[in-house]
Amino acid sequence: LRDVDLLPELYPSESIATEALRHEAESLQAIEISTVELQWVQVLAEGWAYPLRGFMREDEYLQTLHFNTLQSGMDGSYRENHSVPIVLSATQADKDRLDGCSSLTLKYQGKAVYESGDYLVGGDLAVIERIRWEDGLDQYRLTPNELRRRFKELNADAIFAFQLRNPIHNGHALLMQDTRRQLLERGFKQPVLLLHPLGGWTKDDDVPLDVRMKQHQAVLDAGVLRREDTVLAIFPSPMMYAGPTEVQWHAKARMNAGANFYIVGRDPAGMPHPAKETYPDGNLYDATHGARVLKMAQGLDSMEILPFRVAAYDKTASRMAFFEPKRKDEFEFISGTKMRTLAKTGARPPDGFMEPEAWRILATYYQNLPQS
Ligand code: ADX
Repeated sequence: LRDVDLLPELYPSESIATEALRHEAESLQAIEISTVELQWVQVLAEGWAYPLRGFMREDEYLQTLHFNTLQSGMDGSYRENHSVPIVLSATQADKDRLDGCSSLTLKYQGKAVYESGDYLVGGDLAVIERIRWEDGLDQYRLTPNELRRRFKELNADAIFAFQLRNPIHNGHALLMQDTRRQLLERGFKQPVLLLHPLGGWTKDDDVPLDVRMKQHQAVLDAGVLRREDTVLAIFPSPMMYAGPTEVQWHAKARMNAGANFYIVGRDPAGMPHPAKETYPDGNLYDATHGARVLKMAQGLDSMEILPFRVAAYDKTASRMAFFEPKRKDEFEFISGTKMRTLAKTGARPPDGFMEPEAWRILATYYQNLPQS
């Protein structure tokens, strides 16, 4: 595996360096970070946000906000896609205390996430040790370099990534199956799927990571997705629900992990609009914008975007299928809210919507939730 291209990580490469770093850290001024900020430290340390090497400085922040890219290359002339701010906030008191410090230590003590301060602290990171969450799922948290090695072991000649934060229904599966079909048709011999659920912070009404992982395993066990050429791993980033802006981050991070194809479907990284009654389909973003923006995005050159139209339940065929406007009455859209209601009341979704065992895992989770 010598010829795997690896990314620079922000961990010291030798244990002597770790000790020196630990020693130095003890002598520096410190700042407390939140759980989400620690998730970002992991993202940065492992190389998902490469070429970014730390929390953003002001110029990087401005490039991200205004151009959705970061300058890179020797003379800064190349633009890498980078659409989301990765920043560390500080309070007025932190700012007063830390002004003028050239190095500081980030500390995490499992405190509840607090409101962000008014200031941001940026700069390169040196991360003392690998971040582990000790939640029984760390074995799934493969770094971009570990994934690159895994793809090599599998002799992959095409790697297609699927980002998700929801349980897998047969509509999601259809996108992945169809991508594989397209790649084989194009002459690839060994396409490998990176099935890559997001593992950082998600909003309260999303399904927790441990339940999703069990659900995803059940989908693989049932053979809906091919276990032999699928790598199931966790993407450590927190979720932002930033629609077309965030989908670029989702794709760019997978490009860093070695993926060369990225699947995008309906309303990626979207959520219901807070005032949903006043919006046509109740969503915060136009459901087509994510895929369209991603297709046009700058700085994703080593990856091909594979956009898909919406999949829905085809009542005539009793399966999930790509929506056909001409037969629209034969299709049913089964939303997250609808799934929740079915699960809570012990009802079942229509046959062919989701693998039965995968549904059972989801239904058990919803039935055991405290009544809200
Ligand atoms: S996301 O926040 O990770 O984007 P989700 O897990 O719901 O949310 O979606 C994962 C991927 O599947 C995204 O690319 C999304 O566009 C796509 N997707 C989800 N539902 C559908 C659907 N019914 N039809 C087509 N694509 C879909």
